[in-house]
Amino acid sequence: MEGDLIITGGRPLNGTVRIPAAKNSVLPLLAASLLCSSPVRLRAVPELADVDTSLQLLQSAGCEAGWQGSDIVVQGVPGVCRLGADAAARMRASILFCAPLLARLGRAETVLPGGCRIGARPVDLHLSGLAQMGAVCRAEGERLILTAPSGLHGAEITLRFPSVGATETLLLAAAAAQGKTVLRGAAREPEIVDLAAFLNRCGACVQGAGSSTIRVEGRRSLSGCSFAPMADRIVASTFACACAAAGGRVELTGCAPEIYRPLLEILEQMGCGVKYGPESVVVSRFGRLHGAGKVFTGVYPALATDAAPLLAAAMLTADSESSIEDVVFERRFACTEGRTLCILPGTGLKGANTAAPDLRGGAALVIAALAAQGKSRVTNTALIDRGYAGFAPMLAKLGSEIRRETRPSDGTEKKRH
Ligand code: UD1
Repeated sequence: MEGDLIITGGRPLNGTVRIPAAKNSVLPLLAASLLCSSPVRLRAVPELADVDTSLQLLQSAGCEAGWQGSDIVVQGVPGVCRLGADAAARMRASILFCAPLLARLGRAETVLPGGCRIGARPVDLHLSGLAQMGAVCRAEGERLILTAPSGLHGAEITLRFPSVGATETLLLAAAAAQGKTVLRGAAREPEIVDLAAFLNRCGACVQGAGSSTIRVEGRRSLSGCSFAPMADRIVASTFACACAAAGGRVELTGCAPEIYRPLLEILEQMGCGVKYGPESVVVSRFGRLHGAGKVFTGVYPALATDAAPLLAAAMLTADSESSIEDVVFERRFACTEGRTLCILPGTGLKGANTAAPDLRGGAALVIAALAAQGKSRVTNTALIDRGYAGFAPMLAKLGSEIRRETRPSDGTEKKRH
């Protein structure tokens, strides 16, 4: 949906939010559906721009992929090895769709993936792992061409960094390769566990997901299944930080606090109340917010890099100093050159006109605007729509004064079917 977000800040948040399914789980699951010879149904998927881009990628590969209510159904065998260039360039996760095409068709063509501009985001770990499994990778300008002349075979692979995307690419390749793969130095994020659970439900044999060594027995073919993707721990973190910044009391349901505990612990340390349930958490802030001192992001189970800008927005409202160092991406904070953002107590936030620099940076501006006195306008909201569905209505339901100022439609508004 086009349009700027108009926010009048200074109102506390109150109420309950049900956390939707995770973008970072849905995208690899949609890529995995290319490996399945019968239909895949993903249940209760949020309507995100990146999900739409993924549907376009699946369609460009020759599958039928679309909405059935709030579910997504993917069916049909991929017959085209070249991914739609516009969709592929729009989103870094488009690289995940290559390994399944390579496994099924022996060839995959894409353009070098885009995505949020938060630092150099190479795909060398994806490609060198695939090469160890028998793929030949070559770049022609912006195009990337992968072939597997004798098919993919299992391999012993060690990642030099636990990249989430590379772990997913290699899991997808290994699930359909011939023989056994051992992946060491794998990412341990919960979204990897979700992908492995999905693959196993489809008949794959993946063991050890969630630890740094994953073992996969390749299978010739996988069937489809119906699967509910896990909850979005970054959306949950967003609402927790919004409550910390604007004050009030918010219950976040449907998402285990365990998967974003570092963020919750920092908010507690800053003076928020945090009440843990097994699948929900209540965050409250009625008194002052204090600085957090020095905090760092890291790979799971440390504080998620995606939560850093959200937390920074809350830190802006604290009465003492905080700093966040992001060790995962070199340009996580659009407003600073280095990896560390230092936040000193100020005289209070005032409304302003701002433009979202990237997905999480955009959400951080919304959080800051909720806490600021007066009116703010956030433009460039298409970037926020990549990862948040119905963000403004969800915040409005909690008592925020936020609306979308829609621009005149060009008549091509997308519809569900
Ligand atoms: C995924 C998430 C993103 C999150 C990130 C880290 C999705 C769709 N996106 O992104 O929201 O911020 O994990 O938790 O799930 N790297 C290389 N070579 C590679 C691959 C990565 O050097 O081949 C580097 C990257 O430049 C970056 C770091 O590794 O500095 C982390 O990247 P990675 O874990 O791969 O993140 P993504 O999978 O892109």
